[in-house]
Amino acid sequence: MATHKTLPGFRDFYPEDCSLRNHLFSVWRQCAKRFGFQEYDGPILESLELLTAKSGDEIAGQLFNFEDKGGRAVTLRPELTPTLARMVSAKANALPRPIKWYSIGENFRYERQQKGRLRSFYQFNADILGEAGPIADAEVIGLLVESLCSQGLQRDEFIVRLSDRNLWFYFIESLGFTGEQATGALGIIDKMERMPPEKALAALGELGAPDPAKTFQAITDFQQLPDVEAIAAFLSKMDLSEESHDKLNGRLDAWRELLDLLDAAGLNDFVKLDLRIVRGLAYYTGFVFEAFQTVGKGRALAGGGRYDDLLEKLGGSAMPAVGFGMGDVTLRDLLEEVNRLPRLIDKADIFLVYTGDAGFKAALGDAYALRRQGLRAELPFREAGMGKQFKQAAQSGADFTLVYGPEELAQGIVQVKHMRTGEQKAVPAAQLVGSVLALWRE
Ligand code: HAM
Repeated sequence: MATHKTLPGFRDFYPEDCSLRNHLFSVWRQCAKRFGFQEYDGPILESLELLTAKSGDEIAGQLFNFEDKGGRAVTLRPELTPTLARMVSAKANALPRPIKWYSIGENFRYERQQKGRLRSFYQFNADILGEAGPIADAEVIGLLVESLCSQGLQRDEFIVRLSDRNLWFYFIESLGFTGEQATGALGIIDKMERMPPEKALAALGELGAPDPAKTFQAITDFQQLPDVEAIAAFLSKMDLSEESHDKLNGRLDAWRELLDLLDAAGLNDFVKLDLRIVRGLAYYTGFVFEAFQTVGKGRALAGGGRYDDLLEKLGGSAMPAVGFGMGDVTLRDLLEEVNRLPRLIDKADIFLVYTGDAGFKAALGDAYALRRQGLRAELPFREAGMGKQFKQAAQSGADFTLVYGPEELAQGIVQVKHMRTGEQKAVPAAQLVGSVLALWRE
């Protein structure tokens, strides 16, 4: 019995888990490349200040932070976006726009461990910086959809719910919330779907809503609006300043443009306007979106949005930005649930069996020569009877077994057995590598 266990929310990856993880990563990589994104990476450990500055209270409460031996306040990264903002800011002038970058890496959040939520998880992040127009939003949403499909999910198994924090800010302003209060209100709205109405009412009251019941109703009505024209009609009746009205019209045009682009890209069926989404991270400024599974428990698969102020707020020059993060935990669970986890075959190409020390040495030399040619060649570490070795060869899944018995050695040959057909061929030992490669390629 093992006395030491993994910490809560951390995982061991046994070889089959690693194969699967590598597979998920490789699909993400291929998709990002198809969309013209370049890979980058940052450190796992960051200064605490970078992460507490702008992510918002929720993430700040979930940090794995500590003081390092040099007395610095540091934290394991809970997400990658602040790191990306720092990296791009540092080289902003030298980078051709738009900057389209992706990364796959481990993040850490001290959350309550539950199904789909761990304390260590991997995330695929893809972001576009330097492009303010909805074409960038459409492109990251497109990559999000394509990467879920490429992982094996089908159209009716997930949905991207698309919303807009800007619209929410105008609406909240019309309800009388300003500044900090507005951010607090968004925090409540973000959780309203998972919260009993009495609790939401109480939270709105605590925030200073003059008539919480009326505010609650107005928010619920706003959340139900089905399309852009309904939003336009709803907001035109609200008490907004002239400046906000102009900005609002600009936002509605941006919405029409984005929906048009998604339509042209054939993504309409995957994306649905849904104002219940506001996102928990504080830095989002415009369009926000979240992908949910529509089968089983309806968990979040990915989330993202626009964060046009983050680079400037972290001390760099202003640069528009939009992107998303997709986790490996819910994705893997969902693929398992719909029975679409790939069957990954990890097999040998060539297995070598031998008798005696001379047989072992000859086999070992050939195994190395074949490995140098790119083949996966395996041989038993310890000699066993031929029957047992052939059993091992069959278990390894090898296509060919090479036999180094006393007779073969005496004749200067190696028997090459094709495992599927059972055919056997004697090959001169001196020409073994070339002959095996030729048979392999047939
Ligand atoms: P997020 O919504 O916090 O966004 O996380 C994105 C995804 O990461 C979630 O939908 C989920 O799949 C996964 N995830 C988050 N926390 C956990 C956890 N504790 N356990 C397992 N999976 C988790 C962000 O992180 C933003 N930085 C994404 C972004 C990139 N926005 C713009 N660019």
